[in-house]
Amino acid sequence: MRICCVSDLHMERGVSAQERADLVASQEADVLLIGGDLADEREAFEEGLKRLSAFRGKKLFFLGNNDLELLEDNKLTEDHEEELKGLLDVYDFHLLDHAPLVLEDVGFVGNCGWFDGSLYVPLEGHPSRFDAPNDMEMARRRATYYFQERLFPTLLPASFTPFDFFEYTYERLQAHLQECTEHPDVEKIVLGIHHVPSRDFLRVGTDPWRNYLDFCMGSSRYQSLIAHPKVVLSVVGHTHRPARFDIEETPVYNVSSTREIPFRIFDI
Ligand SMILES: [Fe+2]
Repeated sequence: MRICCVSDLHMERGVSAQERADLVASQEADVLLIGGDLADEREAFEEGLKRLSAFRGKKLFFLGNNDLELLEDNKLTEDHEEELKGLLDVYDFHLLDHAPLVLEDVGFVGNCGWFDGSLYVPLEGHPSRFDAPNDMEMARRRATYYFQERLFPTLLPASFTPFDFFEYTYERLQAHLQECTEHPDVEKIVLGIHHVPSRDFLRVGTDPWRNYLDFCMGSSRYQSLIAHPKVVLSVVGHTHRPARFDIEETPVYNVSSTREIPFRIFDI
């Protein structure tokens, strides 16, 4: 089975993103897997889906953090997947955050994921302030403030933290993986997460603020899911830097779209 994978197309950036979406749509593959952050505004998101829907094969999608900013009617964890599934259904994309999918002997599992601070290491020898956190507790407070007051002020259940959302997405991913491993037809699994599973994917910072951004990039807890023996390929995004690192036997590719590497093709 041939799979074309790409994340972080960011259609709101205009012509170069549109050209890349058309290039992706023209690929000959059985499956197109879009790994989140298609756009942070509805018009650009739909423009991207329209262009990508020219792909002649099965189309799958898992969400990125920017895609969540499109929500209008539902709070996170309260039918937010159903709302975005409705948008994706129009263009014949299957939303993996909502449900996994089995095609022949391959199970596809995907989720936005989130961060839990486990990839964060403070820098030695710098003070810690709220505007430039440099210890775990301050970083947690800062990330919670940003999540609640800036990013999703109207889209959260009461007292909901980024760590609650991490647990929600993690449990969904784990349950979907379990469902696929128990499916009688599934020999191989492709697992997608928008966030990253290890510090290998990060550019370790040289100042506390740069380093704090790594707090928000993902979680090492994903490693145990990726290491499942049936997972033959894992794709991630979010950092905007293509890369490959293996977790046990599983290759993990960051499929963030760039001018140099606009997408990746895999044969499994
Ligand atoms: Fe992202």
